[in-house]
Amino acid sequence: MLKKISLLLALLLPAAARADEGMWLPMFVKRLNHADMQKKGLKLTAEEIYDVNHASLKDAVGQLGGFCTAEFVSSQGLLLTNHHCGYGAIQSHSTPQDDLLKNGFYAPTPAQELKNEDLFLDVLVRMEDMTAKVMDGVMPGMAEADRTALVAKHQKELTDAAKENGKYVAYVRDFFGGNEFYLFVYQRYGDVRLVGAPPESIGKFGGDTDNWMWPRHTGDFSMFRVYADKNNEPTKGYDAANVPFRPKKFLPVSLNGVNEGDFAMIFGFPGRTQRFLPAAGLQLMLDQSHPARIKLRDTRLKIWKESMDQNAGLRIKYASKYASIANYWKYFIGQSEGMKRLKTIETKQAEEARLAKWIAADPKRQAEYGEALPAIQTAYDGLRQYNLSSVYLAEAALGNEITAFAVRMVPLYKLLKDPKADPAAVKKAADDLRGPAAAFFKDYDANTDKKVYGALMQLYAQNTPKDQQAAVFRTVDSQYGGSWSKYADYVFSKTFLASQTQTEAFLNAPTAAALDADPAFVTANGIYGDYQQNILPKQTAFQASLGRANRLYVAGIRGLNATKVYSPDANSTIRLSYGAVKAYAGRDAVQYDYLTTAQGILEKEDASVAEFNVPAKELALIKAKDFGRYVDKRTGQLPVAFLTTNDITGGNSGSPVINGRGELLGLAFDGNWEAMTGDLVYDAGLKRTICVDIRYVLWCIDKLGGAPQLVAEMQVVSNGPNPGVGAGSKATSSAETLNPGDKMKLRTEQGGKVKMKKKA
Ligand code: ARG
Repeated sequence: MLKKISLLLALLLPAAARADEGMWLPMFVKRLNHADMQKKGLKLTAEEIYDVNHASLKDAVGQLGGFCTAEFVSSQGLLLTNHHCGYGAIQSHSTPQDDLLKNGFYAPTPAQELKNEDLFLDVLVRMEDMTAKVMDGVMPGMAEADRTALVAKHQKELTDAAKENGKYVAYVRDFFGGNEFYLFVYQRYGDVRLVGAPPESIGKFGGDTDNWMWPRHTGDFSMFRVYADKNNEPTKGYDAANVPFRPKKFLPVSLNGVNEGDFAMIFGFPGRTQRFLPAAGLQLMLDQSHPARIKLRDTRLKIWKESMDQNAGLRIKYASKYASIANYWKYFIGQSEGMKRLKTIETKQAEEARLAKWIAADPKRQAEYGEALPAIQTAYDGLRQYNLSSVYLAEAALGNEITAFAVRMVPLYKLLKDPKADPAAVKKAADDLRGPAAAFFKDYDANTDKKVYGALMQLYAQNTPKDQQAAVFRTVDSQYGGSWSKYADYVFSKTFLASQTQTEAFLNAPTAAALDADPAFVTANGIYGDYQQNILPKQTAFQASLGRANRLYVAGIRGLNATKVYSPDANSTIRLSYGAVKAYAGRDAVQYDYLTTAQGILEKEDASVAEFNVPAKELALIKAKDFGRYVDKRTGQLPVAFLTTNDITGGNSGSPVINGRGELLGLAFDGNWEAMTGDLVYDAGLKRTICVDIRYVLWCIDKLGGAPQLVAEMQVVSNGPNPGVGAGSKATSSAETLNPGDKMKLRTEQGGKVKMKKKA
């Protein structure tokens, strides 16, 4: 009986409506998603979401600095994003005397907004399917290298044309393992100023302890403003004559709050998923790459932390670096645990076995895809031999700051060594290093880095194959008794690259001799050069055959599951995901609610643990229940964070969470621990997006931050309940996991909600 019902249901469901999986290309929303979105509560037309000729939602979002997402919330170019996205900028304006990280900051007037070197916002102008043009001339029997070259040539030509002589930022990216190609054209706004941020004790409340976890009580937001010239046109960087940018579209902000089952969509720039990674790739990750990264980051973080605890200056210098290394340190741990718990590799293997059978069943498929699975295995067997060397190069050698900085000198060094080099080119190469050098020294502490150098390089020496190590490893063995910390003492006593004045003097009059005499440079160049010469070519050869095999594999998987509409892996291009507000069952007997409130801040508050400090004023306001119009009507509490089923990943941070009417409900800022394998496989039961509730954001700005002028700039709306299928409908199943009392409560609430909906 049960079986029959589910079979019937499966037949009735349209292919695209599967769960809430998918980071969709907005240009296809009408064709692939719109009907399904309407069923789930969307009230907007497809054109109101994506339209290249008229203002649509896509005009209200942008990619911030290439690594996060931000959205316009006023006609004056005001942007909201996460605190952890603004972190680097907030840190750069902080000093022990005026510590914006610690105290928070709201510019009282636009004139006091703070400029940021190198921060920009890219807003999509248009996107286009270029598959036919990129593949023009690609023949079935073509040699892989010729194919790659032709594809790259077409990509470059199309990109160059779309840039229109520097007017736009453009690129053509490959999708589905190189089976499809799309062009993206962006307008880049180079004057983005910091407007406000809560203190770190709110913006990063819970710190690394709570990171990647629910329940969450983090006010993870910050505010920026885009400036443009008098004609509303972008400028390359800060210009005092600029005025606030007037976006084509900005998001109204909703005070209605969220209920389970409400429709929710997220626009943003997800960075990278690997949902088509074969089992052999997952295995290499789990066996080798992740454990090495975890160990190396653990080592680096402990040394950094010791320094940061010494004084405020060092704490500020290392704050942003620490946060980003710690973020993925915990990610690798969670993902490794999740892969084991959820049997991710076994599931992939089973799918590959089905694929192999499907291919073998038909000679045509055999001819088309037959080589894919064996070639993948061969390529990964090859890559496995060199994998640790490249992980250690990235995480250990380049994990100490001086080596990463020294490697940047290599292009200049090569010119200095070349008797035929044009002196103007040498000067330019040196000048190009001034900016990076200034940025490096601003946040650098040589004593700390010396300890990191010794510790990480020791691990490098111990854990990579000896026959893949550069000559310096033998030198350290023979002359320093194998002790990299002794070698570090020598390097740091001699190098000029740890001193800003000496480095600037060098850049004023660069010579090859100076670099040849510098042990930090010689060591860095030796290790990096050896890798490039002896290891990289071998990896590249395996990668090339893997590239071809992957392309066929992805095509095969899509053929095998022909009724499933696949969304492409994330690749830092603009995407739309949609789903609903929804609770989840974390593990046996553990049911999480979908909303947290300020009560949880009081529960977690701990004056003796930095991550759980709460500003005194916030404590007082919460205790006095001074929530104003930001109160959650269902609970009577101050709402803080909520969950949705949206499919997102890193890069989506700061993304707007939008209801069915196009109003802002909150900002996406994290994923949950139970679904850390989400970048590898989507699990509908477990995967959730953690969002900061916009009502908490507004409360923090207005009540706590004393910056009501910034809220006044927004269009705050209260349009009644959000559209959505509601918790009682068959579309959500969480009620089944609640206990009978809760189920009853839920039903009554839904009853009320349905009635209200009818009125509206
Ligand atoms: N896990 C979040 C993300 O990747 C970042 C959270 C930053 N907070 C922190 N405690 N490191 O989007």
